Amino acid sequence: MAKNKTVESRRPLIAGNWKMNNTISESMRLVNNLTGKVKAAKDRDIVVCAPATALAVVTTALKGKNIQVGAQNIHWEKSGAYTGEISAPMLTELGVKYAIVGHSERRQYFGETCATVNARARAALFAGITPIICVGESLEKREKGSYKLVITGQVKRAMADIKKSDAAKCVIAYEPVWAIGTGKTATFEQAEEVCAHIRGVLTKLYDAKTADAVRILYGGSVKPETIDGLMVKPNVDGALVGGAALKSDDFARIVNFVTPEA
Ligand code: 13P
Repeated sequence: MAKNKTVESRRPLIAGNWKMNNTISESMRLVNNLTGKVKAAKDRDIVVCAPATALAVVTTALKGKNIQVGAQNIHWEKSGAYTGEISAPMLTELGVKYAIVGHSERRQYFGETCATVNARARAALFAGITPIICVGESLEKREKGSYKLVITGQVKRAMADIKKSDAAKCVIAYEPVWAIGTGKTATFEQAEEVCAHIRGVLTKLYDAKTADAVRILYGGSVKPETIDGLMVKPNVDGALVGGAALKSDDFARIVNFVTPEA
């Protein structure tokens, strides 16, 4: 697959997923610690995906800074009787720019399906919010060797009815379930293999130009020690970081990754 990180839309992206962590005061402490440590780099995008309760204060605190804010979920309807959900207009009003969609924890614990992932992604795109669409195989599928089939299916269904121009704006995060929160990170080669595979699926669904524009992230136990090696890989455009995003020193080091080309 073409190595084309020079495509402007493929600016490296490091996103922190705080998951169900950080009260408002804890969020503010983390954000304040982070802003001093994160380089004002123009060649990369930095995002923190805070819990819903902290989105308002975090977006306010980061206004005009080089860190953007993401949500961890987004509903497909603009409003209505959907207790516990959060809509695109609610997020855009706050200045939220990204939304994680289809994280494996939501698929596993909250009944998220490929159809709802697709509906959420389309709602985000419609509202001008960048969806970070998560895909990833279980340990069982990895061991059986059928992981690429799983990924193909997840990507195809997530992208259903998304037109080419919108597809190019999507971010896809490859997060093998067996590597999330386990400390068991995929090797650089395993990450690259699947990220390249995802780009191949996108090429078939759309075309090479569109596939080349999409940012594909790796997520799963990303650490300060592993980020530089990961970012060298031609099809890895960034990382979706869980545990290490909760520590300002670790996240800052990940954000400030260095590659030979940089
Ligand atoms: P960890 O980095 O804690 O493994 O979490 C990864 C993840 O799920 C990010 O969305």
